[in-house]
Amino acid sequence: MRNDFEKAMHFRHACKLFDTTKPMSSEDLTFILEAGRLSPSSFGMEQWQFFVIRDTAMKEAIQAVAWNQPQVTTASELIAIGYKKNVRSTDGYIQSEFEKFHYPDYLLPMYAQWIDPLSDEVLECWSARQVYIAAGNMMTAAASIGIDSCPMEGFDRDAVEKIMGIDTDTYGIALLVPFGYRVNEQPPLHRSELSELVSYL
Ligand SMILES: Cc1cc2nc3c(=O)[nH]c(=O)nc-3n(C[C@H](O)[C@H](O)[C@H](O)COP(=O)(O)O)c2cc1C
Repeated sequence: MRNDFEKAMHFRHACKLFDTTKPMSSEDLTFILEAGRLSPSSFGMEQWQFFVIRDTAMKEAIQAVAWNQPQVTTASELIAIGYKKNVRSTDGYIQSEFEKFHYPDYLLPMYAQWIDPLSDEVLECWSARQVYIAAGNMMTAAASIGIDSCPMEGFDRDAVEKIMGIDTDTYGIALLVPFGYRVNEQPPLHRSELSELVSYL
């Protein structure tokens, strides 16, 4: 098991070009989405929304505002990972999360105390942070079944949100993550040594 996980970690790299002749199966897509769904989030509030973009014209328009990166249109599946914006304790979405999962009564006031004083900007950042955890799990899950991916922040966020036609009062887009099969060989992984990265206190 440890070996399988390690293999997946070494298989994953930021894939720059996907094979347009090799589509992923819908089972594989669901497997990847499940890894996102099962990810941890602060207070369990599932701040993510997964937009699977399949419309060709939409993908082409997105590529044009994403430094023309070919991952966007060559991927078998393009997922824009969004975060929820209305996450104050009084917002309907948060209230429904607390009700849906029957969280204990003390938790909502605790949430309110911590979250509600935050500025809109800080709150948006907090919500967006959660979805990176889901993205990481989704990419490792994909790698575990031989599927490549690339995390992408290199895009004009306002333009992408406009092209997608999402309700920007409700969602923001944090990341684009294309999934599919590599064309080119994987480049060597550049990583510092653990001794440089870990401090024991
Ligand atoms: C948040 C984030 C945003 C990134 N944005 C892009 C991007 O827009 N385009 C791209 O080709 N790679 C992007 N990358 C990939 C990184 O450049 C890559 O992960 C890093 O150089 C390490 O290489 P590796 O993932 O192949 O090991 C991004 C990575 C992260 C984590």
